[in-house]
Amino acid sequence: MKAPTPFSTASTQALYSASVPHESAHLHVSGQAVYIDDAPELSGTLHAALVLSKQAHARIVAISTEAAMAMPGVVAVVRAEDVPGDAMIGPIVHDEPLLADALVQYVGQPILAVLASSHELARRAAAKVQVDYAPLPAVLTIAQAREAQSYVVEPLHLVRGEPDAALATAPRVLRGQWQCGGQEQFYLEGQISYAIPKEDGTMHVLCSTQHPSEMQHLIAHVLEVPSHSVQVEMRRMGGGFGGKESQSAQFACIAAVAARKLGRPVKLRLDRDDDMLATGKRHDFLYDYAIGYDDEGRILAAKVEMAARGGYSADLTAPVITRALCHFDNAYYLEHADIAALGCKTNTQSNTAFRGFGGPQGALMMEYALDSIARELDLDPLLVRQRNFYGIGERNITPYGQKVEDNILHELVAQLVEQSDYHARRQAVAAFNADNDVLKRGLALTPLKFGISFNVAHFNQAGALVHVYTDGSVLVNHGGTEMGQGLNTKVVQVVAHVLGLPVTRVRATAADTGKVANTSATAASTGSDLNGKAAEHAALQVRQRLAALAAPLLGGTPEDADRVRFAEGQVWLNAQAMAFEALVRKAYEARVQLWSDGFYATPGLHWDRVTLTGHPFYYFAYGAAVSEVQVDTLTGEWRLLRADVLHDVGNPINPAIDIGQIEGGFIQGMGWLTTEELYWHPETGKLMTHAPSTYKIPAVHDCPPVFNVRLFDQPNRMDTVLRSKAVGEPPLLLPFSVLLALRDAISSVGGHRIQPPLRAPATPEAILDALDAVRTAAQKDG
Ligand code: MTE
Ligand code: MOS
Repeated sequence: MKAPTPFSTASTQALYSASVPHESAHLHVSGQAVYIDDAPELSGTLHAALVLSKQAHARIVAISTEAAMAMPGVVAVVRAEDVPGDAMIGPIVHDEPLLADALVQYVGQPILAVLASSHELARRAAAKVQVDYAPLPAVLTIAQAREAQSYVVEPLHLVRGEPDAALATAPRVLRGQWQCGGQEQFYLEGQISYAIPKEDGTMHVLCSTQHPSEMQHLIAHVLEVPSHSVQVEMRRMGGGFGGKESQSAQFACIAAVAARKLGRPVKLRLDRDDDMLATGKRHDFLYDYAIGYDDEGRILAAKVEMAARGGYSADLTAPVITRALCHFDNAYYLEHADIAALGCKTNTQSNTAFRGFGGPQGALMMEYALDSIARELDLDPLLVRQRNFYGIGERNITPYGQKVEDNILHELVAQLVEQSDYHARRQAVAAFNADNDVLKRGLALTPLKFGISFNVAHFNQAGALVHVYTDGSVLVNHGGTEMGQGLNTKVVQVVAHVLGLPVTRVRATAADTGKVANTSATAASTGSDLNGKAAEHAALQVRQRLAALAAPLLGGTPEDADRVRFAEGQVWLNAQAMAFEALVRKAYEARVQLWSDGFYATPGLHWDRVTLTGHPFYYFAYGAAVSEVQVDTLTGEWRLLRADVLHDVGNPINPAIDIGQIEGGFIQGMGWLTTEELYWHPETGKLMTHAPSTYKIPAVHDCPPVFNVRLFDQPNRMDTVLRSKAVGEPPLLLPFSVLLALRDAISSVGGHRIQPPLRAPATPEAILDALDAVRTAAQKDG
């Protein structure tokens, strides 16, 4: 047998990359993947259904549960007074009642849970609970909250340079107000928890969550037991998208409180409408901006106030608006900047994490403004963007003080321009528009730069356990959670690569607070960066011990341990090899520890929450997209004809999974910016779009017929796991190009002389409004 090419045992920097299938693909496609609701139910299991507030802001005057309790099979109701410990929860500030008792603060807020022998029965009984309210005045919009200075968190304000002076002397100034909508996470599997009481006051909870440790801590807090008495387990989610980072807690805690009260297992699975009514979404934003620029389109000063809808409680709004503030610059150097971010308190769902975590909302405003500046100057928007890009070695400090040291924007965008045939297609679009009155085409290229790491430095840590069994098979457990993004697959690949095994020999297990303690949320796209490194660390320790044993067995001395190679299921020294499992067997007999823990903490991070400066990100991920759309100017309907993406994932651990993440992120972001409209009733404050019948997420038909997704070929310069880059969230910013291509198509109706006032989401109604505005202004212009 030929010896494989050697690599150092001290490091795994040899670039490894392989498109192995998702570890659960065969289970997903055959319907065998077990989600919480699929797990066999224990006998005695009760099902919970929630009674939700019908008022946006009101005192609860009376609650009558007699009719519900009279139904056969209904066992109990659980109310705030049943909570043994603190009845307030929340990820950062404990400002959310687990169940509302005296006051309700939005339509959809959980008031009580009805427990019954079946899911259907619990829901029917919940509908019979009568709640009487004394209404209070409600704050329903961002504008009202801002007016009343009603916030869920302290406003943030970052000033760099002399923005006022620079604005006053700028030859040109663009001013305006703009808005973008929020977005429902629309995970396919809704929120669900299954709480199983165990001996001696302990509790085992299966919970669909991105953050098992936080669930454990909050359950312990409401049950008033130590954390060691609560075990939270999570095998896989049917999607999370940020919606199960903090907001799985309410359901986990209600199920646990009910299970404690009744001494029986309790399952709480939300119906889709209840899920959409009860839980928070992506924050919608209202912007006021002023950008000073010169005749070449160079930004001289940028001022923005971003007001986000926080909803009724703090939840994750502070970190979300912090990320918005750190992403307003997007790809551009802002020498003089004044960036304010407000978390407005409204009587609506408490908004939360959603893929990008405020970053998309920050960067979108900048891209919209640059698009306007280019139109103002009659320049190609691409040129205006390139003129403002962060420099290399100069003009490279972000407004929050971090130096951009890994800038690949210039190269990446140049490659995409070439691959997408941008310039020729811009001309073709103009020619098409000259020949067509009703159908209009539009084209746009937008870049992105996205900071990777949690802004809170201490969240950037992870742990893992690697067990090698005597038959040579390997089990890995880590602190991250699998939500479809392929984290377990990547972690398995890393461990298999370190031990020189095929991936089929390594299995990843459910996330479990009883295995790795004090884990961070799988969020901020850091899942594989953190857990991949921790698992690599664990596997390397086992490998080192095995190598020390192998060297003499393969004809070397103990000093040769560093030269022992693990590859292709064999362990090699020079040209001698033995099977991995034979070595493992010998190691067991020699009483060598065949399992290890591993730990990782991202180096070099710091963030000052007072000055809003520091080095919050380990590195940046980059990407760019070109989108071409066709709009029917009579109906406002449109199609994405073609999208070209060039995205930076460093050295991809799994290119197929990364391309899947890029495509998924692109289409999900396109949904946010076009079809997905959240509509709250202006008087009652009820979310009217609370089901797929009224809330339109993109479907297969909305994907472009030509969708070219390429990976930018360059390993991460920072020492990440196998030199990869995070991929989960950054692609959500790629479809800014879709929104601005739509704006370009609309703009053609006015000869590109008028700024189309296109709001996001650009629904057909919004497109028609923008078309009308352009036509009217064009007529006035003569
Ligand atoms: N992909 C799928 N299929 N399902 C999801 O729920 N969540 C996204 C992204 N990609 C998500 C997804 C979000 S919000 C984040 S933060 C990352 O995955 C989290 O996983 P990672 O850190 O392992 O990339
Ligand atoms: Mo993702 S919004 O960080 O869960």
